[in-house]
Amino acid sequence: MSSKSIKVFAPATVANVVCGFDILGFAVNQPGDELVMKITDKPGVIIDNIIGDEGKLTRDPLKNTVSACVISLLKHLGRTDIGFSISLEKKMPLGSGLGSSAASAVAGLFAANELLGNPLTRMQLLPFAMEGEALACGHGHADNVAPSLLGGFTLIKSYEPLEVIALPVPDLYCALLYPHVDVPTRDARQIIRSKVLLKDAVIQWGNIAGLISALYQHDYDLLGRCMKDVIVEPIRSMLIPEFDTLKELALANGALSFGISGSGPTVFSLFRSGADAEKSVSIQQKFLLSHQIQSNIYVSEINKTGPVVLG
Ligand code: HSE
Repeated sequence: MSSKSIKVFAPATVANVVCGFDILGFAVNQPGDELVMKITDKPGVIIDNIIGDEGKLTRDPLKNTVSACVISLLKHLGRTDIGFSISLEKKMPLGSGLGSSAASAVAGLFAANELLGNPLTRMQLLPFAMEGEALACGHGHADNVAPSLLGGFTLIKSYEPLEVIALPVPDLYCALLYPHVDVPTRDARQIIRSKVLLKDAVIQWGNIAGLISALYQHDYDLLGRCMKDVIVEPIRSMLIPEFDTLKELALANGALSFGISGSGPTVFSLFRSGADAEKSVSIQQKFLLSHQIQSNIYVSEINKTGPVVLG
């Protein structure tokens, strides 16, 4: 029996970045998931252990997001001679809008690829991670898995064919506030209207183009002005307690921008300084607490590396 093993970390992500539904995302330094993978001589993939999920994730290798992606990778590589056993440590809340399923899938694929001597590039691993998203929420969007896998700020230029562009990474701090309410991605996708008015599309594509331009010019005032969403946020914000007041508080306390992280309920705000981010998000947290809503907060710079080997 081979005993080769690896421990990895994969970062959480903020998908959509307000105006770029399903096409924009960035990774953060924390939170994220840790995963230990061992090569076994026995073909197939097993989930040895999951901690931090309160028993909510399936241990069935065909249904669990991480193992299902890794099984698909092994099949693609024609590796029927070996298998993997996986121990996953969830270090972020599930169903929070922080790309929890994406971070787990990316950790699994990155670990497997490393153990096999990196037969695929990170970009080539992306479709396998998207399969995990389809399994987790019924839709294989790439705006969490791409930044988690590649690090930084990414644009999904198109899905068919899949084309991903790495954008300049802003030198900003991201504050995340996760209110303890349940907003499953599957449900949050179903409430969005499938048709968009042309006048709204004009506003939205102006904002997206402006945001990309702001990243290239490092113009963070422009970035803040462009992070507005007239299509998805007006609907989804109804699922997030005190959304409008949280936004007012963030913007009044130094945030360049504020919005829903992925499908929520986590909200995020961007700042020029870490101290401002810490101060502003703790004001938001206290406000929620005054409405009897518990929350978690995380502050970090934008992650530039994607997954890393821990040992
Ligand atoms: N773009 C996806 C959505 C991200 O908003 O549904 C989910 O985290």
